[in-house]
Amino acid sequence: MPRIAHLYFKTAVIFLIIGIGMGLNMAISQDHSVIGAHAHCNLLGWVSMAIFGGYYALNPRKAEKRLAMIQYGVYTAGVALMVPALYLMLLGNMAMEPVVAISSIITFVGVLLFAFIIFTGEAVAITPSAQQFR
Ligand code: HEM
Repeated sequence: MPRIAHLYFKTAVIFLIIGIGMGLNMAISQDHSVIGAHAHCNLLGWVSMAIFGGYYALNPRKAEKRLAMIQYGVYTAGVALMVPALYLMLLGNMAMEPVVAISSIITFVGVLLFAFIIFTGEAVAITPSAQQFR
């Protein structure tokens, strides 16, 4: 598996652990005010990152490009900043609002970079032969 795919899965599972932690805390406390931070942590963190990692695992040539690592850095920085800022904002700390806005834009730039990677270059996907699993 290309290094970036592994890196994406490692980062994704950390967001899943944090996201589930938030979910359990909401369920136990019966206070669902941070629902937005929980949902974004799980969906932008765990789900989207696992999809990005899966794409790079299937497209090793694209995974080797420097732009792929830049995309990982930008997207991860955006989500890592957005989730705690959103969490604090939903708890009533309105000073976090500009941080949520800026980090959302950084996350979106990471998504646009991923779109660029998908639409450019040679799309040589690897499909494991069924033979090797027999
Ligand atoms: C053990 C794991 C989890 C727990 C305990 C948990 C707990 C919760 C709780 C208590 C709520 C608030 C429900 C409400 O107020 O209506 C919620 C909402 C939500 N959760 Fe989780 N969650 C878990 C895992 C996940 C995962 C893995 C994802 C996504 C991949 C996810 C996505 C969402 C979304 C999108 C909402 C908002 C739903 C809505 O607004 O209707 N959750 N979760």
